[in-house]
Amino acid sequence: MTDTTRSSRIPGFHKKSPAERLALVSDFAGLDAAAAARLSDTGNLDLGLADRLVENVIGSMNIPLGIATNMRVDGEDVLIPMATEESSVVAAVCNAARQCYDAGGFTTSMSGTLMIAQIQAVDVADPHAARLRILGRREEIKAICDGCDPVLLSFGGGFRDVEVRVLDSRGGPMLVTHLIVDTRDAMGANAVNSMAETLAPHIAAWSGGRVYLRILSNLADRRLARAHAVWPLDQIGGQIGGEAVRDGIVSAYHFAAADPYRAATHNKGIMNGVSAVVLATGNDTRAVEAGAHAYAARGGQYGSLTRFEVTADGQLSGSIELPMAVGLIGGATKAHPTAQACLAILGVTSAERLARIIAAVGLAQNFSALKALATTGIQKGHMALHAQNIAMMAGAVGDEIDRVAAALVERGSVRQDVAQAVLQDLRGEA
Ligand code: MEV
Repeated sequence: MTDTTRSSRIPGFHKKSPAERLALVSDFAGLDAAAAARLSDTGNLDLGLADRLVENVIGSMNIPLGIATNMRVDGEDVLIPMATEESSVVAAVCNAARQCYDAGGFTTSMSGTLMIAQIQAVDVADPHAARLRILGRREEIKAICDGCDPVLLSFGGGFRDVEVRVLDSRGGPMLVTHLIVDTRDAMGANAVNSMAETLAPHIAAWSGGRVYLRILSNLADRRLARAHAVWPLDQIGGQIGGEAVRDGIVSAYHFAAADPYRAATHNKGIMNGVSAVVLATGNDTRAVEAGAHAYAARGGQYGSLTRFEVTADGQLSGSIELPMAVGLIGGATKAHPTAQACLAILGVTSAERLARIIAAVGLAQNFSALKALATTGIQKGHMALHAQNIAMMAGAVGDEIDRVAAALVERGSVRQDVAQAVLQDLRGEA
């Protein structure tokens, strides 16, 4: 039954300490002391820091951090920290990377570190002439934008260009100014948003219209990360042979390229890898995800972020290209000690290198998913880890987890009721 006496209107909640908020929430939700204690155990994130990172903090939520091995990116071996709650994601990267390691691993590149900020102006009487008026003030715009962020300038970043589009919107013509800004090692949201806000009154004056939105675009298509790898047939063959695996993967790519229903799942698999590294390094997963999906739809139909082809000598060639707005400075990247440790594990000293490695991880993830799907199916690989989760849900602890999981896999029945029965037998024997 719903408790109608409980109220979510809690005056001054934001001014209370995390412990006071937790007490209120525990009371509201009827949490027992053990649940409340788990919430307040913030693990490797200091509670005070958590309280400064977001609002109304009561605790933290930990996600497993796994390391993908076997990755070689541009001739250098790297260990990849991945924060994910999904089983098989880390193993998938390890396996894909192992199978292209001897052939050289991943080769990557980047189109640049340019971000775009948009300024929306409406009610412009002569939008096409206004466009030219704004373009004619390029040097003035550059000075205003660069004046917003001297630090960025000192690191070689700053304003690069201005572009103006006349959009045919439902509300009539709309004048949209794009600021193109090199944000270097910053993800850049703060830098470009400040520039857009500072420039907005000038755009209103020059265009004669009214300015509404002033915000970055997550379709960071001037910040494309690219990765490529070749998987030799003798590395991917297994029981059914390299050619069959290769052709299955290429056909899976063709499926995604032709069908948005499949492409959504195909790209979700890519983002399993991408988002795990983005999160581990304290970057903005939603920004990268929004950029990736918008880029996948740039041609008018949502499609695949990767491509798989057959090389002239018959090997499997895979490539990926997607926007990658990640940084090394600012926000949680700098503040979260685990993010800092993950960056140290990666050994990256530039946002560009980080972005390129992440693209390689996305490609690796996709290779493994397609290989599994085109051959044995995804469930077999998932089963061992899934069985462990089910064993834990059934109450198994310590070495019981492996024993129950093994029994479930052996029976081919990974279900919680079966796990409970197995656990009972096990404890009975003991
Ligand atoms: C599951 O998280 C991801 C996959 O569905 C990706 C794919 O189908 O390509 C296995």
